[in-house]
Amino acid sequence: MSQDLFPVKPDIRERAHIKTMEEYQRLYRLSLDNPEWFWGEQAKMLTWFHPWQSVFDADYKEVDFSWFMGGRINASFNCIDRHLPHLGDKTAIIWAQDEPGVYTHITYRDLKHNVARVANVLLHNGVKKGDRVCIYLTMIPELVYTMLACARIGAVHSVVFGGFSAESLRDRIVDARCKVVVTANEGLRGGKKVPLKRTVDRAIEGMSLVECVLVARRTDSEVPMQPGRDLWLDEETAKQRSTCTNEWMGAEDPLFILYTSGSTGKPKGLLHTTGGYLTYAAFTHKLVFDYHPEDIYFCAADIGWVTGHSYIVYGPLANGATTVIFESTPLYPDPGRYWQIIDDLGVSIFYTAPTALRALAQAGDDWIKKYSRKSLRILGTVGEPINPEVWRWYHDVVGDARCTVVDTWWQTETGGILITPLPGVTPTKPGSATLPFFGVKPVIVDPATGIPIEGNDVSGALCLGAPWPGQARTVHGDHKRFRETYFTQYPGYYFTGDGARRDEDGYYWITGRIDDVINVSGHRLGTAEVESALVAHEAVAEAAVVGYPHPIKGQGIYCYVLLNSGFSEGNQDQLIGALKEQVRQAIGAFAAPDVIHIAAGLPKTRSGKIMRRILRKIASAEYDGMGDISTLAEPDVVNKLIEEHQKSQ
Ligand code: WT7
Repeated sequence: MSQDLFPVKPDIRERAHIKTMEEYQRLYRLSLDNPEWFWGEQAKMLTWFHPWQSVFDADYKEVDFSWFMGGRINASFNCIDRHLPHLGDKTAIIWAQDEPGVYTHITYRDLKHNVARVANVLLHNGVKKGDRVCIYLTMIPELVYTMLACARIGAVHSVVFGGFSAESLRDRIVDARCKVVVTANEGLRGGKKVPLKRTVDRAIEGMSLVECVLVARRTDSEVPMQPGRDLWLDEETAKQRSTCTNEWMGAEDPLFILYTSGSTGKPKGLLHTTGGYLTYAAFTHKLVFDYHPEDIYFCAADIGWVTGHSYIVYGPLANGATTVIFESTPLYPDPGRYWQIIDDLGVSIFYTAPTALRALAQAGDDWIKKYSRKSLRILGTVGEPINPEVWRWYHDVVGDARCTVVDTWWQTETGGILITPLPGVTPTKPGSATLPFFGVKPVIVDPATGIPIEGNDVSGALCLGAPWPGQARTVHGDHKRFRETYFTQYPGYYFTGDGARRDEDGYYWITGRIDDVINVSGHRLGTAEVESALVAHEAVAEAAVVGYPHPIKGQGIYCYVLLNSGFSEGNQDQLIGALKEQVRQAIGAFAAPDVIHIAAGLPKTRSGKIMRRILRKIASAEYDGMGDISTLAEPDVVNKLIEEHQKSQ
């Protein structure tokens, strides 16, 4: 592991909100010693209609946390209305469209009018406080309008990433019982059309639950509209007034549901509430990126994932920032796209994922050198461990050794960043997320004994030992699952699913998932989901899916498949293609397997448990050190798998 230390840059320290390690340590101690005081102070950065009665309440046995109880607040008011007196003409959103060089600037005043109109359309179509609205869109402004429109009237949004298949979308609509779906006729991404409405039609076919589909117009294409159910969003907003009252929501009223994959079963709808989530998103956005009012802020994630929720929409807008919404991909039309946007718009803070950086580094430095990037100051990364050499490339080439790199570790469940450098405070090490944010208490637990390991230079399962306002409160409709997934493995702690090392300086290094979740291009995927997609195919008797190191995606998807008799003869190329397609259809294109390994047998214990550890090693071409395989029912299987793997390389 790299031991290089990159000191804080003096000019960055100069303008930072927090300028010294001593100040960080003092505040960090206060935040853990007296969280109620600390978070009560931070929540004052938002505008409350009515003050809270207690900062924090918990029932640890029930796993029930509440922040700012009794407080009344509205997220849309905080992201829009309260800024209008002084920032009405400021650009809230710059929409960087799919075609290079095409930008739309949306002021805070425009944002208010657009959000209020969509809110009125929702109300007009029977959406009430507490109702769930599914949003299935690519990166267009209507996505933000609809999220904030929901927040304005107290509806709960459930954004489903526009790359999910009809089947996945259907599961999510049903699970959250959404009665309205907001989509577009088509999306545009990387010069290609995304058939959003067609996918919605398939997802809700024969379903009476969804009463209304609102369709934004992104392209000129016609799509079938079902009378009595489907409405064009632009026609409906044109009928509505541009004002709409903000509901006074309770601090603990739900703001949104967002689905994420776990090691078992169907994806879980994590539920985030209003006051604590927004406090945490706004406060972390301000300090981690050292946000100042003159910044142009560009997070290149998709709003379909939590990064986009917290750090494209809620955090930046609550802080009155100018936030870029990017419709395209880093490689369209060429690998210079990000740097072009940065120069065109004068971006000072840029936030992306290691997978994009790896692809761009591979394309060569000329693409970067073509652009000045002189406006940049802070470079963020999130989603997966960043290889130290990619970190250095980001720092040296993209940032000209002038910008600060912040490697931010967090999860859908955590609502906001938990382990991260602060630009004015933390000397960085390539590949380390460094130190905990305020109020965050990382605990490294020995996975064998469940006992916390004290001191430095230790590794184990990463847990969190103290609650924070941004954390998810429950799994929608299944609190038992919430409790069992996160709070039973290591009683008294929240278990993250990640492994981590605390080095000799107390810095954290996230080593990746230690459960059956893989991280593909920064997208979390449960291996069980891919397996159930595979076994749904008539040819498949059994499937076991693992991750393996992939040069661009971080982890690739490696599927071991046992075939039913009658399917194992002859050329298998067609079947392999069909199995990949099966997974695309069941989950989405981003989940398409990289490797289908048709195997003669799987390594199982005598009790029938698949030994994934062995499968992971073979998929990674690590044939030695299989460990103890004496408990296998048929030890020969291992050699056979290795042979098959070698043959395919
Ligand atoms: C998992 C959470 C949080 C937004 C994007 C992903 C991995 C996330 C880092 C990082 C190493 C990271 C972890 C985590 N992860 N950030 N900076 N270094 N690993 O959200 O889909 O909920 O996935 O992403 O494994 O558990 P998510």
